[in-house]
Amino acid sequence: MVAGAVVFRGVMRLGDASGVVGYRLRNLMANLLPSRTSLMVAAARALGSREPDESVRNPDYLADRLLGPEERVLIKEHPLSEALGKPYEEGRADPAAFGTTVMMLVRTKFIDERVRAAVESGATQMVILGAGFDTRAYRFAELLKGKRVFEVDSEATQSYKRRRAPEALGDPPANLTYVTIDFNRDKLGEVLRRAGYKRGEKTVFTWEGVSMYVAAEGVRETLRTIATEAAPGSVLIMDYTTEGVLEFMQKFPSMGPVSMLKAWGEPWVFGVPDTEQAEFFAELGLDMAEKLPMYGPDSAKRYLTRADGTIFGRPTGATNPPPQAGQIQPEVQAAILALGAKTGGSW
Ligand SMILES: C[S@@+](CC[C@H](N)C(=O)[O-])C[C@H]1O[C@@H](n2cnc3c(N)ncnc32)[C@H](O)[C@@H]1O
Repeated sequence: MVAGAVVFRGVMRLGDASGVVGYRLRNLMANLLPSRTSLMVAAARALGSREPDESVRNPDYLADRLLGPEERVLIKEHPLSEALGKPYEEGRADPAAFGTTVMMLVRTKFIDERVRAAVESGATQMVILGAGFDTRAYRFAELLKGKRVFEVDSEATQSYKRRRAPEALGDPPANLTYVTIDFNRDKLGEVLRRAGYKRGEKTVFTWEGVSMYVAAEGVRETLRTIATEAAPGSVLIMDYTTEGVLEFMQKFPSMGPVSMLKAWGEPWVFGVPDTEQAEFFAELGLDMAEKLPMYGPDSAKRYLTRADGTIFGRPTGATNPPPQAGQIQPEVQAAILALGAKTGGSW
């Protein structure tokens, strides 16, 4: 703790003195703090879990407990931080806070469903890669009873969670093992084997909201390892972005959260090819069984439709996310449309 405090003071002083040194030190600081994006997505689940309409409520009812005042300060740059301090209706009025909440609703429900299905079809191990503030080990304690669960994450984020989760959620389930990794440096296979992962057992892996933060070789190595280490019938549930989105982010750095991610030391660095996505995974030994574009009509139909048929987050009758009048410049809109056309909407 003391060493951490000394380093933090150094970072503040030197960071002001030189841009380059400041950039390096900000990254160093980012390595000592928990991943802010992991708190941000948990905050979006927390806000979404307050939705009164159960049909479009985020099922992660534990996320809200994890996001106390200290966690909200850590993500103060994101509107979700303030939104969580307000009554739900007021909090969701901020478009950036609400947009992330809608995205997380699709992601949480999709992954929850697939995890359930995998365990019900015989998976006896669950590996949560880049777990952040994932609560499934707690939420699915009953489903996962008698199964091994591994939460694999970077050291800084995991040590924060290991302090925070017991105080907010109670003792971790007895079947949960925490394992640290750097996907850019460590071999997942060795890390898992050391932790007690059994190669011959059917496993469900999740890699939620992580691949975009890992360098290409780390992503390939991780996927190859899953393909070779997992028993037949195992599944990997993950999300990813595409190269086109990364190009878009470089071209329009002031759009959305791009500069915030950079300032947090968590820029997006990897995307799968815009087209031939299934081929990318196949080359690494993985068959793509299902793909659901996060913003497409299928995801809206499955996960964002209220009992009365209206879509959560969209005006009645609209089929696409509402345009933010006056906020989207024509060149940005054109780039978004081009990206959609290039990827067939799968970005
Ligand atoms: C956006 S958060 C997602 C967290 C969680 N899966 C969720 O969806 O709530 C990204 C996560 O990836 C982890 N991560 C990013 N790069 C990593 C790396 N090179 N090695 C290990 N973990 C990494 C971070 O620590 C963080 O927990």
